[in-house]
Amino acid sequence: MREPYRWWQTGIIYQIYPRSYQDSSGDGVGDLPGIVQRLDHVQRLGVDAIWLSPFYPSPMHDFGYDVADYTGVDPLFGAMADFDRLLDAAHQRGLKVILDLIPNHTSDEHPWFVESRRSRDNPKRDWYIWRDPAPDGGPPNNWLSFFGGPAWTFDEQTSQYYLHQFDTHQPELNYRHHEVLPAMLDVMRFWLDKGVDGFRVDVIWLMLKDEALRDEPENPDWDPAWPHSRLKHIYTQDLPGVHALVRQMRAVVEGYHDRVLIGEIYLPVERLVQYYGQNDEAHLPYNFQLVLLPWRAPTIRAAVEQYEATLPARAWPNWVLGNHDQPRIASRAGREQARVAAMLLLTLRGTPTIYYGEEIGMENVSIPPDLARDPQAVNQPEMAEELGRDPYRTPMQWDASDNAGFAPAGVTPWLPLAGDFPVRNVAKQTTDPTSLLSLYRALIALRRDEPALAAGAFQVIETGVDDVLAYVRSAPEADRFLAVLNIGNRAHTLDLSTAAVSAEIVFSTDMVRNGAVTLSTLALAANEGVLLRLT
Ligand code: GLC
Repeated sequence: MREPYRWWQTGIIYQIYPRSYQDSSGDGVGDLPGIVQRLDHVQRLGVDAIWLSPFYPSPMHDFGYDVADYTGVDPLFGAMADFDRLLDAAHQRGLKVILDLIPNHTSDEHPWFVESRRSRDNPKRDWYIWRDPAPDGGPPNNWLSFFGGPAWTFDEQTSQYYLHQFDTHQPELNYRHHEVLPAMLDVMRFWLDKGVDGFRVDVIWLMLKDEALRDEPENPDWDPAWPHSRLKHIYTQDLPGVHALVRQMRAVVEGYHDRVLIGEIYLPVERLVQYYGQNDEAHLPYNFQLVLLPWRAPTIRAAVEQYEATLPARAWPNWVLGNHDQPRIASRAGREQARVAAMLLLTLRGTPTIYYGEEIGMENVSIPPDLARDPQAVNQPEMAEELGRDPYRTPMQWDASDNAGFAPAGVTPWLPLAGDFPVRNVAKQTTDPTSLLSLYRALIALRRDEPALAAGAFQVIETGVDDVLAYVRSAPEADRFLAVLNIGNRAHTLDLSTAAVSAEIVFSTDMVRNGAVTLSTLALAANEGVLLRLT
C-alpha cells in the first residue's frame, strides 16, 4: 500500500525481547549483535518494524524496565556501536526500529534517584515522589504495587517514603516537577536524532498521580488472583492531566519525519481511545482486547465491533495478540486456535503487533520456582505460578540443536528453553509448507500486497453460528476478502451468500485447502479459519 497511509498503519510490528532472541556472546542472555544475526528471519517473516524491549543499562530488577541510564546500552546487550549497527542493518533491510521508552519510573540506581535520595533538600529531591510516613509510621497512603505489597518504600537516610507502583527498585518520577518532562523529552530526542523510528511508551497512562495522594477506594469486585485489583485505581491511573504529557511527547515525535508514538495502556475502550487525543497524542494507543478477553467468538466479535464503533475519526486501529507481560496465545487459546488467531490478527483492520515466538506457536514454559526470575513472581512467591511472566519470555526456538540455536552449546540460558524446541522451531517450520510459520509468512505477504487487507474497510457478516466470526475487508478498485474464523471445535456448514456468490479460498489455516467454493454451503472444519477472495 502507498499513500496516504503511513508505514505504522499498513505495516506490521514485531516485538523482540532482547534477552531471549539470540545470544551471540555466550553468556546465556540475548544481545543486540544477536538480533542483527537474526534479521534474516525478521525480514523473511515480512514484518515492517521491530520494537525492542529495553536494552539500556539496568540492574535488571525488572529486566531493563528499571533504567539506570536512558541513553546507553547495558554491557549485557552490547555497546552503543552494536546498537548503531543494528539500526543500520535494520534500515538497510527496510525495517523500522521502535524503542521502548520507560518514562514513568527509573531504576533506583539512576543518577537522578541517587541524587534525589541523598537529602530532603537535594535539587533532584522532587523529581521523585517522596512523603513523610503516616502518623503510625506506615506508608503515606494505601496505594498498591503491581508487584505485590504497598507502593511505598521507606528510605532510612531521609526518613521518608518514595513511591513505586512496580518493584521497590523502580521509583516513580514526578511529572508535576517542571524539569522532569523536559529531561524525558531530551531522551526521546537523543534516540530520534540517531534515527530510531519511534517509541512504545511504557505504562503511559500511569505517568501522573493524584497530587494530594488520596487513598484509593476498595474495589468490591476485586480478583483475588490479581492482588493489585483490590483497589480502584482512580488516583494512580488515567488522570486527566496525563494527556498533556502525552501531547508533549507527540510534539517531539512530530518534529521528526515519519516517526511513531505508541502507548502501553490497559483501559476500557472508551478511555483507551482518549489517548488518540485530537490526533495529537499517541498514534497507536495499544489495544489489548485480544490479549485480555476470553477466547470465544461472541466475545471477540463484540470487542471488535465496539472498538470499531468507538474509534474517533482519523484514529487508526491496532491489535495485539501477545507481549512479554501476557500468556502466549497458543497456551491461552490452544494450538489449533493459535492458527485462527494469526489469521484474525493479520486480517483485522489496524496495525498488528506480533510478539516474538508467536510465529512458531511458542507456548508458556513452566518455570520451576527456584528458576523464577520475574519480580512479579519472586515478590509474591505464594502466587508465583499465576503471576510470573517468565513462562512467556523463554528463549526463541531457532532449531533443534543444543540450546535451540539461541545460545552456544554448553551455555545455560537465562530462562529454561521450552521442552518442545526440537520439534517446534524456526528451521523445522521453514521447510514445512503447512506450518504455523508458513501461515504467518503467507498472511503477511498477502496483507502487504492487498490494499483491502492492508487498510481497507471492515464489515462483520452474520454467520448464524455463535462460534464463527466472519468479516469482509474491502477497498476501492481492489479485490475484496472474506475471513471466516471458526473459534470453536465443531465443524459447521455456513450460508454466507450475503457476502458474495462465489469465492476462492486463498488459504485455510491448515495451509492445504484452497480453490473455489460456493458461499451458500461453506464447510468449515473445527478450529479452521479460511481467507477467501470474493469474486
Ligand atoms: C510495563 C512493562 C512491564 C514492566 C512494567 C514496569 O507494563 O511492559 O514488563 O514490568 O511496565 O515497567
